[in-house]
Amino acid sequence: MRVLSGIQPSGKLHIGNYFGMMKPCIELQEEGEAFLFIANYHALTTVSDGAALRKDTVEVALDFLACGLDPERTVFFRQSDVPEVTELTWLLSVVTPMGLLERCHSYKDKIAKGIAPSHGLFAYPVLMAADILAYQSNLVPVGKDQKQHVEVTRDIAIKFNNVYGPVFTIPEPSIREAVAVVPGLDGEKMSKSYDNHIELFGTEKDTKARIMRIVTDSKTVADAKDPEQCNVFALYRLFASESEAGQLADRLRAGGMGYGDAKKMLFERMWTYLEPFRARRKELEKDAAFVDSVLRRGAERARAEARKTLDAARHAMGVG
Ligand code: ADP
Ligand code: TRP
Repeated sequence: MRVLSGIQPSGKLHIGNYFGMMKPCIELQEEGEAFLFIANYHALTTVSDGAALRKDTVEVALDFLACGLDPERTVFFRQSDVPEVTELTWLLSVVTPMGLLERCHSYKDKIAKGIAPSHGLFAYPVLMAADILAYQSNLVPVGKDQKQHVEVTRDIAIKFNNVYGPVFTIPEPSIREAVAVVPGLDGEKMSKSYDNHIELFGTEKDTKARIMRIVTDSKTVADAKDPEQCNVFALYRLFASESEAGQLADRLRAGGMGYGDAKKMLFERMWTYLEPFRARRKELEKDAAFVDSVLRRGAERARAEARKTLDAARHAMGVG
């Protein structure tokens, strides 16, 4: 069973990224062979500051290693270090129907937000398909918003296999329903583009200030509150044990507890939860050579796999 996922280095990671993508990936490394890469080629569709992209790529690597990614178990690498993937993208693009890409929500959403409609942005799902198919991945853990891209990948792989013979493994998306969408400060999906996020490695001051901004209803301290309708509780339960979450739910329902106190509890719980990650990150920050060597070693292992798939695809198409 091969598990694969990628993340774009387009800014600081937040707790939505952590629970929706990082944590499931890190846990899945126990179950099978895991591949994880930093999708810097995808980031080029929206980021044009080279220095920032280079810096964010290192930051994401540090974040994952700090949160428990084990480079012995997981093949961890930069997308751009595997040129076989971009070659495979072309081979896949000739079996990709235009209509399949035209239906992608992510493209339409990005255009609506004012991102320039480049060919790269439109062809983004084909590059993503190459990422997944190059390593013959079985399972792709992603947040709900990426599910359609994995479905597009399946369609492309099925079409290719029908036309040219069985070259690609057909992957499945893996979505954790319980934390499929982590809500942001305003109750909408947490996203750095909505500025409703809480950074994973933010400062204490910023983290506290953001938690204090979480939107709540206008109930008074004395009022009974419904934990299921409360953004503070929705975030608290991600960090808490079942019994801790149960206790806070009971206190909210009983009345007599204000949202301010619930927010303080959320901050304390989150800060303690992330403490070992922060400590490890501090150590890693001092060892840039180690981080670089992890990514280089990962790329070598990834390239060996991608090469095999690319050769098979080229051969099947009559260009190898
Ligand atoms: P953002 O919306 O902040 O730009 P990305 O689109 O870069 O985040 O998402 C990176 C990964 O994290 C994807 O797998 C995505 O599904 C997951 N993810 C992002 N935000 C959330 C969220 N609020 N809840 C769950 N998963 C999320
Ligand atoms: N498009 C994904 C995102 O924005 C990142 C990504 C690129 C990816 N290639 C992938 C995720 C392959 C899973 C598998 O989050």
